[in-house]
Amino acid sequence: MNSQKHLFQLPDDIHYLNCAYMSPLLKSVEDAGIEGLIRKRNPATIRPIDFFEQAKDLKENIAKLIGSKATNIALVPSVSYGMASAINNLPLNNGNKAIALENEFPSGFYTLQNWCKKNNKDLHIIPSPKSKEKRGQNWNQAILEAIDTDTSVIMLSSVHWTDGTKFDLEAIGKKCQENNTFLIVDGTQSVGAAPINVRTCHIDALVCASYKWLFGPYSMGFTYFSERLFEGIPLEESWVNKANAHNFAKLTDYTDEYTSGAGRYNVGETGNFILLPMFNEAIKQLLKWDVKNIEQYAENLTKPLIEFLKDSPYCIEEDEYRSKHLFGISLPENLILEDFLKRLETKKIYVSARGSSIRVSTSVFNTEQDIDTFIHTLKS
Ligand SMILES: Cc1ncc(COP(=O)(O)O)c(C=O)c1O
Repeated sequence: MNSQKHLFQLPDDIHYLNCAYMSPLLKSVEDAGIEGLIRKRNPATIRPIDFFEQAKDLKENIAKLIGSKATNIALVPSVSYGMASAINNLPLNNGNKAIALENEFPSGFYTLQNWCKKNNKDLHIIPSPKSKEKRGQNWNQAILEAIDTDTSVIMLSSVHWTDGTKFDLEAIGKKCQENNTFLIVDGTQSVGAAPINVRTCHIDALVCASYKWLFGPYSMGFTYFSERLFEGIPLEESWVNKANAHNFAKLTDYTDEYTSGAGRYNVGETGNFILLPMFNEAIKQLLKWDVKNIEQYAENLTKPLIEFLKDSPYCIEEDEYRSKHLFGISLPENLILEDFLKRLETKKIYVSARGSSIRVSTSVFNTEQDIDTFIHTLKS
């Protein structure tokens, strides 16, 4: 795969190594949004079926991306929404312990913490190992050891959002299955950039915002729910999620029945005529590229950077536990983070600061020139 920068609106003179913050806009996604906006000029062209068809198509495409069925997908406005829908519907009789990782993203962490407080569960935090040697391996090992028959749920990100540390979701899922533990995953920082399969990982809920690696719009995302969460109570009662929603003339024939599968968890006004077409266009592009190729592209592109970093005073995670598309770089002690960031800014290099490290993330819009300029600046 070659650089796909020509498909984006990104200015030529910046080196944007920050897709983990927010992706740039694909031209096709921008066009879909504008078309959706214009559609409302004439509401006579918007048919009742349009409230449902776009969402159906989008869910089918998302399902292909994560190895699920469309009926397991709900469309949500944010990770916090998806997390609340999943966590508040966990059973209360399968253990007294909940597990999260140190420095988990707040949207999931607060939701789990509140659920624990409300339901008298013990929240165990698995710390990131202090020693850099075999850090990823030891962290994964500690996670596996913590899951036991008293563990009701573990909630974690597919890769750590601050530094891209990889978690072995297949091994974690297997351990969860053996212990009847629910596995809730925040996929925001890897779905679209690295392959994932919800079935082989035995995931119960995969929550994902669309505006990073999925190249979608802000305020839109999805949540995959396994069958064992299908009977839960949704956060809100939208008419559109009810079994009789297609018949606009009979909406007040009130019913307790929801649409099938995870449909009850869709956010109200799911059929957003601007955001949905944008999201769908982005997912279609990802499927065309194929996520395996996107990951490979990031790996090939960053090879010279990784080689340089390994032989320098900067520090990175070992190969096996470092994501290809997103990783942290610890700075040498003599470098002051603020000065360092300012220096990058003068070169129009964009990364994120997380704690005392910087987070670098690359995708198909990046070029060899971006990496060369970054290496050059690190050297200097
Ligand atoms: C891992 C992760 N989850 C979730 C989010 C966004 O959460 P929300 O959609 O609740 O704003 C981010 C944003 O940076 C993130 O990195």
